[in-house]
Amino acid sequence: MQRRRFIQICSTAAAGCAAVDLSSLALPAWAADVPDVPQPPVLLTDAQGAPLKASSLSSSEAYVFSYPYASTPAFLIRLKAAAQPTKLTADGQSYDWPGGVGADKTIVAYTAICAHQLSYPEKDSSVISYDPSATQVSGKPGMIVCCAHQSVYDPSEGAKVMSGPAPHPLAAMVLKHDPSDDSLTATGVIGHPTFEHFFKLYRLQLIRQFGAAHFQATAPNKVAAVPLSQYSAYVAHC
Ligand code: FES
Repeated sequence: MQRRRFIQICSTAAAGCAAVDLSSLALPAWAADVPDVPQPPVLLTDAQGAPLKASSLSSSEAYVFSYPYASTPAFLIRLKAAAQPTKLTADGQSYDWPGGVGADKTIVAYTAICAHQLSYPEKDSSVISYDPSATQVSGKPGMIVCCAHQSVYDPSEGAKVMSGPAPHPLAAMVLKHDPSDDSLTATGVIGHPTFEHFFKLYRLQLIRQFGAAHFQATAPNKVAAVPLSQYSAYVAHC
């Protein structure tokens, strides 16, 4: 008997998510792979392990947390203005990005793995970052810029590609904000997933860092979100 597979569909941040039977949906090829990506609820904490307060986030740089795998970094960003829901396209297929969360709808999250050739923040350095000010490459404030080959993404519009060779938007991490305690929980991934390719490309490097048994492990139920300038010893801006 065929195993029924479910995907978290989130219409808007306020409406939350619902489990939908995949067999009832006509999905593009890449979206059909999403159920194979873990979608665990993961509470975001500060570096000391205390639940992160959305209102405490700085808008001066991105934070890095692990999602949906322990080895796949994601950016948590507080924008300067509310981010509205946006319709996006990847591989010729459209999907809905639900917009920012938090009291002022300014908090967003995306994979920090570039959609072009999968550059990502490492402990010693990062060539991909969010810059609230305009840079030489972006020419516009509030962009995610990958200096490897100068791809620019707009995090206020679902990380759609503004310029450069990236073939599609960064996959978005779905966030849930709890107004009762101002906490943030990552609850899923939407958009074009790059993780399988990432594991193949960086297999040896990830095994050295996380171990052969754990380099593809799902993120634990709590992960710390730390400023990129603390996560990576050197951050390139271009
Ligand atoms: S790897 Fe990011 S632009 Fe090429």
